[in-house]
Amino acid sequence: MIGIYVHIPFCESKCVYCAFASFVKDESFQSDYFEFLNKEIRTCKFEDRQVSSIYFGGGTPSCVKPEKVAEILAVIKAKFNVLGNTEITIECNPCSTSLEKLKTYYLAGFNRVSFGVQSLDDDMLKFLSRRHTKAQALDAIKNAKAVGFENISADLLLGLPAGDIISDAEKLISAGAKHISAYMLQVEDGTPLKDMVKRGEANLPNDDQTVDNYQKLVDFLQKNRFLQYEISNFALNGFKSKHNYAYWTGQAYMGFGLGAHSFDGKNRRWANANNLDDYYKRKITQEVLSDSEINEEKIMLGLRCSEGFNLKDVSFNLEDKQDFKQMIEDEILIREKDQVRLNPKYYEISNSIILKLLS
Ligand SMILES: C[S@@+](CC[C@H](N)C(=O)[O-])C[C@H]1O[C@@H](n2cnc3c(N)ncnc32)[C@H](O)[C@@H]1O
Ligand code: SF4
Repeated sequence: MIGIYVHIPFCESKCVYCAFASFVKDESFQSDYFEFLNKEIRTCKFEDRQVSSIYFGGGTPSCVKPEKVAEILAVIKAKFNVLGNTEITIECNPCSTSLEKLKTYYLAGFNRVSFGVQSLDDDMLKFLSRRHTKAQALDAIKNAKAVGFENISADLLLGLPAGDIISDAEKLISAGAKHISAYMLQVEDGTPLKDMVKRGEANLPNDDQTVDNYQKLVDFLQKNRFLQYEISNFALNGFKSKHNYAYWTGQAYMGFGLGAHSFDGKNRRWANANNLDDYYKRKITQEVLSDSEINEEKIMLGLRCSEGFNLKDVSFNLEDKQDFKQMIEDEILIREKDQVRLNPKYYEISNSIILKLLS
């Protein structure tokens, strides 16, 4: 089984905080990209593999003509073994997601839609230079539901200067969201937000306030039957993202498009070039992971997920390590037979715990 990722690197404008590989381009530029993408998929190996999930991400897949993404999905379906129940997601920005587009996606076979909402506070949306309003975000979710999507996800950002993330989550759930991703706002190098922070124009909350908000959000979502299955991801029963879960559990995946990554499920990873010239020349970079890198990845990804990892799946002896024993004793790590997971109380400091465990 493999997951398939397709990168659509276009946006209507760049948001101040975003460092993703995306840019604003006209239709003829986009047509060249889709033509190449189409060829990349048609000529790849691995066509006999059964597909467990397909994910169109970006950038903003909803900002291009819906027929373009529908066509690429049709190429994937013709090339690979895609079963009827395969999860097929499209990432959408509420500013570019009309009812008509949503219908086209649904009829093309997409069965999951993920909206970049970020906040439902109109001032915060302006601060983030988003092109949509609170009303548009809620309408987009309602429209997705109206055309038949059951599996609807929304992204929210933690660590914004203002707004009420609990009330936002409540409204998103009432509108029909079955899955919520809540990411800590990262101040990325090279973004306008970084300059705004330097100039003292972005009054971001301190870590304690953000952690407090995160904890309140976790509690709120739990009370509303949203299971926290990964540090930043919450879903009602039956609505976990199969695609992301496959990444976190070390399944094989194929990435198509600019900068897309692939993994053979064992030890080989490769990536398309990040710039268009090199991508069009089909330049790729690849690496073969050593045993210790594979182990570290299993532990790191496992501890971010509610299921954790199995000691039998890692080939070095963690049980002899003093830090590991101490973390079990202090109930930072929870062990049930060979399965080890991070106590959710410590999710917000997971990075330092993982580093200590692997040092
Ligand atoms: C590719 S975007 C989603 C689709 C669409 N481009 C949009 O923004 O509506 C994926 C998600 O990454 C998250 N993201 C992007 N930049 C981020 C940053 N600097 N810190 C935290 N999350 C970020 C946002 O929540 C965003 O919704
Ligand atoms: S957050 Fe989404 S819409 Fe904004 S620039 Fe990044 S990819 Fe584009």
